[in-house]
Parts: sequence; structure tokens; C-alpha cells
Amino acid sequence: MNILKLPERKAGHEKIVMVTCYDYTSARIIGQSDVDIILVGDSAAMVMHGFDTTLPIDTAMMAHHVAAVRRGAPDKFLVADLPFLSYRKSLSETMQAVAELMRAGAQAVKLEGIAGNEESIRHIVQSGVPVMGHIGLTPQSVHQLGGFHVQGGSQPDRTRLKTEARDCQQAGCFALVLECVPESLAAEITAELRIPTIGIGAGADTDGQVLVMHDLLGLNPDFKPKFVRRYLDGNLLWLDAFNQYARDVREGSFPAREERYAG
Ligand code: KIV
Repeated sequence: MNILKLPERKAGHEKIVMVTCYDYTSARIIGQSDVDIILVGDSAAMVMHGFDTTLPIDTAMMAHHVAAVRRGAPDKFLVADLPFLSYRKSLSETMQAVAELMRAGAQAVKLEGIAGNEESIRHIVQSGVPVMGHIGLTPQSVHQLGGFHVQGGSQPDRTRLKTEARDCQQAGCFALVLECVPESLAAEITAELRIPTIGIGAGADTDGQVLVMHDLLGLNPDFKPKFVRRYLDGNLLWLDAFNQYARDVREGSFPAREERYAG
């Protein structure tokens, strides 16, 4: 995937496929897949580090994940999340965070929300770094939103989100993530914008879809929001493998003769 191909993909109604990834080994597999874009999301805080929100992850941690993913998937287009508050302090600190993620191997950055971010987005884009926007449920604002809920349910919220989508495009975003919004709203935004929309919990009419890798692999049986489709029962498969290993060791069938060094 090349960023220049995205307008063609939108025009041709050819869906864009994005998935999150945070580590080298998974990136090696995704690197061989038909997925278009890897997002090193700040959801790493939750699925890789076990936090309840995305807030605790910082730029240095994100850069480690980005570098590992880049080593595993050298040829995939890689977008990295700017973490909580890293783009809200000063332009200089914003650009330091951008530089850290780009030097680690990202080809674009993503940031949440538009109000107060317009100048930063323009500056990042004018500095040669593509920016992906993200509106709707913006997890870095979870405490202000009062939890992880669908956004855009009321008419004023729909109007606000449409304005935010236009503002993201106007500020120079090359694509826009729409998270947890009603399908009809995502469809209206998608039809209006020139830039592609990538949905998560935003219905079928966006220009692309993104899922968190651990969700689509079914690695957490306790997390199954309506919008997630599990392509694997990873939790069960991994658990079976670990239990089989434990059984084999205890009953002495592992290591077998051919798994030992002779002499
Ligand atoms: O961090 C993340 O995984 C994301 C996706 C949910 C879009 O931002």
C-alpha cells in the first residue's frame, strides 16, 4: 500500500484493510498477509500491557512497538498512534513525538480529535508526515466521554461529528478513523469526504475497516463488543497448546528422542 493509492481505492470502492499490531512476530505474519495497513495503536497499552485505558502508554513505549513491527513487516504501510497528550503540550513537543515514531519506522501518525489539533496537524503535514485523523469514540478522552460508548447518537452530536470530519480533512488528514458511531452517520461522512474513512464499530459503508489484532484473533474471551468478528478462537487454541505441553512434560513424552541432542 502506498498512500498515493488511497484516493483510487476510495473512488473504486475497493475497501482498505487495516489491523493493529505491536510486536515483531505478529508483524512477520501480517507482513505476508493481504492486509493493507498496520496500525501500531496505543491500544497496545491495553492488549499488550494490561492497562484499563490507553492513557498510560508514552511515546518511548510506542516507539519500541513501532520499531519491532517495522522489523517484522518491512514492506507494509505503518501508521503509529501519537499517545495521550503527546500532541497537546506544545508544537515542539508534538514534533519530538512525531520524530520519535517516524525514526522508529512509522510512515504516518494518527491522532485523536480535531478541536485544538488543527495547527498541529497542519504543521505535521507540512513537515512531510502524513496524519490520519480519528473521531467518534476517542479512547484517549475516555474519562470525558464517561466510558467506552457509541458516539453520535443525538442530532447535535451527529452535526458536531460531521463538522469534525470536515475539519480533519481541511487540516490535511489523509484518512480518518471513525470509531463506534452509527452506521448511517459513518455513511454520510464517507460520502461527503474526499479522504477515505476507516471504520471500527462504524458499520459497512466506510471506505475501510480496522480491528484490533487481539480481538480478531479471539485472544481475550472476556472482550466481545458487537462490532468485533473473531476469525480465530485464539484463547482456546493457545490454552490447549499450553495444557498439552504441560501434560507432555509431566508424563515424560516431551522431549521425545528426536528432540534431544545425542552424545
Ligand atoms: O489504538 C487503536 O487500536 C486504535 C484503533 C481502535 C483504531 O486507535
